[in-house]
Order: sequence, then structure tokens, then C-alpha cells
Amino acid sequence: PDTGCLSIIVLGASGDLAKKKTFPALFNLYRQGFLPPDEVHIFGYARTKLSDDDLRDRIRGYLSHGKDNGEELSKFLQLIKYVSGAYDAEEGFRALDKTIFEHEVSTKSTEGSARRLFYLALPPSVYPPVCKMIKLYCTNKSDLGGWTRIVVEKPFGKDLASAEQLSSQIGELFDEPQIYRIDHYLGKELVQNLLVLRFANRFFLPLWNRDNIDNVQIVFREDFGTEGRGGYFDEYGIIRDIIQNHLLQVFCLIAMEKPISIRPEHIRDEKVKVLQSVQPIKEEEVVLGQYEGYTADPTVPDNSNTPTFATVILRIHNERWEGVPFILKAGKALNSRKAEVRVQFKDVPGDIFRCQKQGRNEFVIRLQPSEAIYMKLTVKQPGLEMSTVQSELDLSYRQRYSGVTIPEAYERLILDTIRGDQQHFVRRDELKEAWEIFTPLLHRIDRGEMKTALYKPGSRGPTEADELLQRAGYVQTHGY
Ligand code: BG6
Repeated sequence: PDTGCLSIIVLGASGDLAKKKTFPALFNLYRQGFLPPDEVHIFGYARTKLSDDDLRDRIRGYLSHGKDNGEELSKFLQLIKYVSGAYDAEEGFRALDKTIFEHEVSTKSTEGSARRLFYLALPPSVYPPVCKMIKLYCTNKSDLGGWTRIVVEKPFGKDLASAEQLSSQIGELFDEPQIYRIDHYLGKELVQNLLVLRFANRFFLPLWNRDNIDNVQIVFREDFGTEGRGGYFDEYGIIRDIIQNHLLQVFCLIAMEKPISIRPEHIRDEKVKVLQSVQPIKEEEVVLGQYEGYTADPTVPDNSNTPTFATVILRIHNERWEGVPFILKAGKALNSRKAEVRVQFKDVPGDIFRCQKQGRNEFVIRLQPSEAIYMKLTVKQPGLEMSTVQSELDLSYRQRYSGVTIPEAYERLILDTIRGDQQHFVRRDELKEAWEIFTPLLHRIDRGEMKTALYKPGSRGPTEADELLQRAGYVQTHGY
């Protein structure tokens, strides 16, 4: 049932993720009417002893949009209550349950259901005890029906074994349909558009294969380092932080076969299949880098070898993609902030214009910033001469959809959890396959067996990565 009383419980309420992402997303949903105040209550839970008002004061500053939303903001903050307790303490969770229950009883519109959504804005090390406490003391026991759901976020483990262990621990307590594993890239507008682009357009259907596509690049760059998060980051590195999850999800959507329908299970079945078709990563198809100055962060060990940059080529062993390199590249402290997919087509055979030096056809999906979809193609240079030039067919969202606000990833994903739609969440078997692909490489890196090149902050990353791209067949197109 999707009506009735809804309790959203944010565990780790005073932490960074909650303040920067969870509460702002909830506020935006509230402002758009998705969290009706006569049905919804929000509860913060954390170890720190705070009053309701203390918590409200802590998050207030993260919620203002620079617009005049004073009254709305106050009303929203009034929906939030706070309970403090340890993450493994029976009394804390009993107190939480009692507070939620009081709200459920007092909510007039509790007709048919009492829904409880637990958002774990916490480090994964406490997922197992917290899930146990929720299961024992806080699940919805109302005769009225309703549900209990758990939202968790990466890192889900550090390798295949630890991820499987975590999955089993949570899986013993909750069923898969109750567990929402967030990968916030799946909440991005243009990531959600990938399925539509691929399967609703006749243009692409016959071209999307090894006969026509030379290589695919999926790139993430940030123009800042790990400032303030060095301690966390150093334990994980760029592959676990970005590539194994965010870029791999994009990879799945680009490479998977057409699902039987757009039902979440059908889509996720196809993702699993394409992940299962990925061949073992070859050492010579990996370039790792670390930006100069990374170890100056006091929370990072001086001798850290952790990569802040990586380029990894994935190869799919199936009829559609045999021989096509999928180049996944991610880096911190580079020259720009950008995430995009570049699908590069093969050269035109027997090119009578001899224009191939100008670049190939490319289909680009820019996920951020300035969302855009464009095609690079060759046209006649306007004028009296018969010469060619590379140009673009451009769907720039800012121009085409100027009046439309693109929702934040977290906003959309939280709404999905309330609605019970798991399409944009990572299923357990998908997670396992993702770890299968990267674990051998990660273990080699952890054992110090892989070389990490230094690169200058603000650069394109190690030059070895450009060389790898060239070897993989990528032809630099002219800037756009
Ligand atoms: C997070 C990573 O998952 O994604 C961060 O832990 C990274 O290191 C962030 O900065 C990037 O997200 P976005 O949405 O800004 O591209």
C-alpha cells in the first residue's frame, strides 16, 4: 500500500551524507508535495545526544536554496524528530520504535498502512548490527499492513568476499525486495535516459554492435582531490570509489541486451548477464595514477600507493561486443569536472572525401555538468568549396528544456524507495558480479604489484592513459 503513515528514519542523522544529501533530498521532495505533512514524519537517529532543535539547527544551513523558503523550511524542520542511541543498543532502538509508533498512532490518515523507511547514512561496518536492531525492535508490526524498507549505500564491501559476507548478513534479516542499494549514478537524468535512447530509437538499434562501433569510453573526472576525505578514500581508491559501481552501472546500460520489458527485474537480469560476459581484466590494459600531493593529506599514509586515477579496459565476450574495448576512466584532481559516455564509430569504408583525419562519428552522452546528448558527424563546410568539416547535432538540455528543473539523483532515488520501485537500485547478484570483475585487479593493487604513475593535479592524468587509449583504437576527435 502506498498511502497512509510514512516514517522516514535517517540513521547517522548528524553525519555528512545525511546533511549534504539525504535531508536536502527529503526537503526537495517535501517542497514538491511528495511528503504530505499529515502522513509523513522524519526521524533522525545517531549516537550524539541532541535535542530535536539541535538536529534541525545542524541541517538547516544545508537546506536553503538561496530562495525565500523560510516558512516552508520551518514547516519541514518541524517534521523531524531526533532519538539518540548507539548503533548496537537495544534501548536506543526500542526508544526509536516507541517514537515512531506514537507518530503512527497519532497520524489520522493511517488507513491501510504504516510504512517505515530506514535510510542508513552510516559506514558499512555498522550495517549488520543496525540491520539486526531494526529487525528485532523497529520493523513495522502494525496490523494495518505496510512495509519496512532499508536503504544502504556503498561501499558494499572491499572485495568479493567481504561484499558477499555483508550481503549475507543483511540478507538473513531482510528480503531482497526490502533492500535498496543506492548507486546515486542511477538517479542521474542522463543515466536514466540511456535505456530510452538505446531502445526507443530506430537509429541506434542496427548500429549498436561490433560491426559499427570501434570503442566506447565511459569517463569520470573531477577537478578536485580527496580533500577532507583522504582517510576514507585511501582505504578504497578510485576503482572501488567510482569505477566498480558508478561507471560499471553506466557500462551495463550501454552494453546490455534489450530487456523483455522495463520491469525492474527484467532490466536487472540483463545487467547481470552482461557483467557475466566480461572477460578477466588484463594487466596491460590498466593504467593507475596518483596525483602529486595526495599523500600530503595528514589522514593519508606517506607511502600510500592508492590510485586516485585509473583507466581500465573491459572486454565483453559475446556476439554483440567481441573485440570492442570499453574504456572506463576515472580520476580525481584532473583538469575538469565531467562525466560522459563516448561511443566512437568505425571509419567509413572507402571514404571518397578522405575526411577521416577530421575525426570519426561519435555519439556522446554528457551526464554532467550541463547535460547534453550530441553526435559528431561530418558535413560539407558551408561555402563554395567542396570540403568537409566535423560538426555536431546537439541536444543540449539547458537550451532544449530550459524551464525544466532536473531533479537531484538522491531525490529521485528516495522517491523510488517510497514507491517501491527497485529499477534504479543494485540487486545482490549484480553487486556480486561487479566485484567478481574487479577483485583480482584490486587484490593485485593492494599487494603493491601494480605500478602507479604520478600525475600533476589539474592535468589530464598520466600520459600512459592516453597511450592506452590510442592502443585501444580511440581516435581523438576535435574538441566540442
Ligand atoms: C561518490 C564518490 O560516490 O561520488 C565521490 O564517493 C565522488 O568520491 C562522488 O566525488 C561523485 O558524485 P557526483 O554526483 O558529484 O558525480
